[in-house]
Amino acid sequence: MNGMLKEDLQYNWHPYTQMEALISNPPLLIEKAQGIKLFSVDGNFYYDTISSWWCNIHGHCHPRIVEAVQQQISRLDHIMFAGFTHEPVIELSSRLAALTPKPLERLFYSDNGSTAVETALKMSVQYWKNTGQSQKNRFISLDRGYHGDTVGCMSVSGVDLFVQPFFPLMFHSLKAPSPYCYRCPESKTPSNCSMDCFNELEKLLCEHSETVAGIIIEPILMGAGGMLIYPADYVSKTARLAKEYNVHLILDEVAVAFGRVGEMFACQLCGVSPDFLCLSKGLTGGILPLAVTMTTREVFEAFLGPVGSGKTFYHGHTFTGNPIGCAAAIANLKIFEEEKSLENVKKIAARLNSEIEVFAGYEFVGDVRTIGTVLAIELVQNKTSGIPIPNGSEYMRKIYSTGLSNGIILRAIGNVIYLFLPVCTNENELSDILARTHAVMKLET
Ligand SMILES: Cc1ncc(COP(=O)(O)O)c(C=O)c1O
Repeated sequence: MNGMLKEDLQYNWHPYTQMEALISNPPLLIEKAQGIKLFSVDGNFYYDTISSWWCNIHGHCHPRIVEAVQQQISRLDHIMFAGFTHEPVIELSSRLAALTPKPLERLFYSDNGSTAVETALKMSVQYWKNTGQSQKNRFISLDRGYHGDTVGCMSVSGVDLFVQPFFPLMFHSLKAPSPYCYRCPESKTPSNCSMDCFNELEKLLCEHSETVAGIIIEPILMGAGGMLIYPADYVSKTARLAKEYNVHLILDEVAVAFGRVGEMFACQLCGVSPDFLCLSKGLTGGILPLAVTMTTREVFEAFLGPVGSGKTFYHGHTFTGNPIGCAAAIANLKIFEEEKSLENVKKIAARLNSEIEVFAGYEFVGDVRTIGTVLAIELVQNKTSGIPIPNGSEYMRKIYSTGLSNGIILRAIGNVIYLFLPVCTNENELSDILARTHAVMKLET
């Protein structure tokens, strides 16, 4: 084993990784990344088919972002964001406020997706306290939802595999079933779907709205729960219900924003204005850690009052509004305009859509779903039974290793493999990635 890798295994503890398995299967040592390719020290390249954990947007080391970061770091690196402010954060906030649905006009920065969500949860609860309704302090969320790894985020997440050891730390939240169309409990198909799964959410709200602060969902695409793609109507119905029952709607767009599902923001696809919008991953183009929780004037104003009134939001992070991250995020937004990135997403989406039938034809494929630059393939033991191929099984491990030998990253979520492509992926790259994905599927079926 390469000496560097030995040192990696001696010192580093990798996330979401069984470290014992890394001894026989060490991580790939990457020395360079360019466009949508990662280059390893042993001379191989890998298409970044999962956008480096769903964050890369315009490819790696995009010259526009690199230049913005270089210029910013040589002028102003970091300052405390209490009592001080700076130009990049002001410009970024006004750009984001202009791009998102109108009522979202206040921005609270942090540095990762979990903190963006945690901020929204805390703001929501304190909003109700500040407005004299402190009994509204619980959340409704979806089974299979994923919102991050801090204790608050885990409490509203619904992937037991990730949170089970931490149950004693977590607060209770009300769970509605997820809109998992392939495994619809009513055996409906998209063509005759009447969204019966929504009734459970409505029932929870009807029974508990007096004590509920908000509903949190990942709009249109539930990522870590298995790349579940569900109708925009579900989101707009949730928004209507949230208003009717006087609870906040928190949209966690940490994974789906910035073109990934076809529009800049998923809430635009659904015609919905949430009370809170959580953004991170792609905010800087996937180059630097930065996050923001956007909210409305109504929420913001509930926190105003004399010092000592107890209304202040006592929450913050050392790197809140980091100027270098903000400069990268501004460059990210400018590239969307300059390179017409959303038009490219349309082309990617059309191509992925045209592949559904082909992927669905493989023996162990139960379902193929796609939106924007995302294509998910659900692997089953048998098409009729739909029984999932077990998580972590030899078969799933083989898919991953065969993918790597074919230069693509097919890191499974349970029994689902997927492409989560950078929005800049061009036609040739996409054809090559699809050909390689088919090669893996053919070998392994
Ligand atoms: C929808 C969603 N919310 C929140 C998070 C947490 O983000 P982070 O890993 O940056 O804390 C993720 C991460 O994958 C996510 O997909």
